[in-house]
Amino acid sequence: MATKTSTSNLRRGITAQPRIHQRAKEIQQYGTVTHALPLDLEEPVRLEMTEQLNQMLADTMTLRDLYKKSHWQVAGPTFYQLHLLYDKHFGEQAELVDQIAERIMLLGGLSIARAPDVAETTRIERPPRGREEVPVQISRLLDAHQIIIGQCRELAERADKLGDDGTNDLVVSDVLRTNEMQVWFLSEHLVNVPLVEAVDSSSDAA
Ligand SMILES: [Fe+2]
Repeated sequence: MATKTSTSNLRRGITAQPRIHQRAKEIQQYGTVTHALPLDLEEPVRLEMTEQLNQMLADTMTLRDLYKKSHWQVAGPTFYQLHLLYDKHFGEQAELVDQIAERIMLLGGLSIARAPDVAETTRIERPPRGREEVPVQISRLLDAHQIIIGQCRELAERADKLGDDGTNDLVVSDVLRTNEMQVWFLSEHLVNVPLVEAVDSSSDAA
């Protein structure tokens, strides 16, 4: 009886063998949006928004990774505080990456996902593989933030104009505000104030 069942299952293609090494044509091409979603947003709007969001995604993924590089490679007397701060910002950027990517998907688009595609798309300057001084690390991070913040302002305005309130809200409430806050925390580290002895202005005049 058991043998008969196994034979009929095999004939129907049912086996315990995993079907590995499969490939097939992709089911949606990059740069397209799926049709007829009940979002009350026209296809051209979703196309433009997903394209812009993919730029923001590639730059945010690059900034996220730049934070991890800085977290690992930081050196000097501020090692401990920066090691922790960089990792905190890394975590917040990783959260933004997921939010931006999922916004693209829910609009019917396709999110950029892999490092080579990100590297081709980002506008953030590529740092060397080697280790750099703290002021250079922070300057690079600030430059990256500036690129993203600039795009936030443009995209928020465009999304508002096109009636995509969800994208506008994500860009302003999450991406812009997080980046602004991180810029504050970083830029204070580049203010050149004395660490131990205050500069006495009265002795300068004498
Ligand atoms: Fe770590």
